[in-house]
Amino acid sequence: MTPRVLLTHPVDRGAWARLAEHTNLTVWPGPYPIPAEALARELSSRDGLVCLLADVIASTLLDQSPNLRAVANLAVGYDNIDVAHASRLGIAVTNTPDVLTEATAELTWAILLALVRGVVPARQALLDGQWRYWSPTGFLGRGLFGQTLGIVGMGRIGRAVAASAPAFGMSVVALGSRGTHPYPRLERDAFLAAADVVALHVPLTRDTLRMVDASFLAGMKPGAFLVNTARGGLVDEGALLAALDRGQLAGAALDVFEQEPVDGRHPLASHPRVLATPHIGSATVATRAAMADRAVDNLLMALAGQRPRDLVNPYAWPGRCSPSPP
Ligand code: NAP
Ligand code: GLV
Repeated sequence: MTPRVLLTHPVDRGAWARLAEHTNLTVWPGPYPIPAEALARELSSRDGLVCLLADVIASTLLDQSPNLRAVANLAVGYDNIDVAHASRLGIAVTNTPDVLTEATAELTWAILLALVRGVVPARQALLDGQWRYWSPTGFLGRGLFGQTLGIVGMGRIGRAVAASAPAFGMSVVALGSRGTHPYPRLERDAFLAAADVVALHVPLTRDTLRMVDASFLAGMKPGAFLVNTARGGLVDEGALLAALDRGQLAGAALDVFEQEPVDGRHPLASHPRVLATPHIGSATVATRAAMADRAVDNLLMALAGQRPRDLVNPYAWPGRCSPSPP
């Protein structure tokens, strides 16, 4: 029988057409993101799901979806999904690694450079008619040349960010011993003492939740910068606000927040030393198309009984009869 699939948001036309060709597809017509009750109702009779990182795929939802065999997340991060519970139920969960690595690394550099050089306030001053003459003391920022970039999470994106550091005259250090890479590996105190910029590239897990807390921030160099294009939940936002207010940190570039979306009233997003963007790490036309392709490939493979390329819970495979994770 043709599998019944729910797509919670329109995606690139090519990927969407392939999904429609091979499945009995329902595309949620809006409002977006799909409300929790609608998701539960729609999913209760589906075999497969393509969802966004904003869609919370909790254990109760999975329990209420007896036919569900595969969940394809349109993101590399999958902290929105109760993967352990999906594994217990034999539901395959997939993500979209690799295809967004370069786009997210670019965005990391874009917001870091804009932050340290004060690009956004300088533009605003120009628009406000405040650029009256070339002043030797006007619009001064900081440079990155000769400084040290500290990477937390030397995975795909962390390594891509590190690879561009020499172009800006920066050296690189890594926090901890994880990952395969050529950079010095430092324990937390030495890492924080060395880094002029700390860049977060770890997934959000029980271990990394609020890893950037008051003590982490207090260990950072006075006047250091933080850039977070990973997940908002990595940072204790109250502690970051306090560190910015007391001048411990020179600034933060934040693409992600603990509760999204935020607006201009959010105390961090509106802080004068913060450059905030609306979770746009992977937001290029080509990257979003590639992500949609990858998610659709994964879902179609799983529903056809083939092990999907980006299976994040191998214990769930080949199906509901598989043993649970240890
Ligand atoms: P990845 O290749 O899995 O890299 C994550 C790295 O973090 C791995 O090397 C991992 O080591 C390491 N790590 C995990 N826990 C750690 C810890 N406690 N301390 C130090 N290192 C730790 O993932 P990725 O593709 O680079 O993506 C990283 C994250 O970026 C995603 O999970 C997602 O949340 C976020 N992201 C955001 C955007 C955006 O739009 N802003 C776009 C894409 C991705 P092990 O392999 O040893 O576990
Ligand atoms: C985006 O945040 C992703 O995880 O792909």
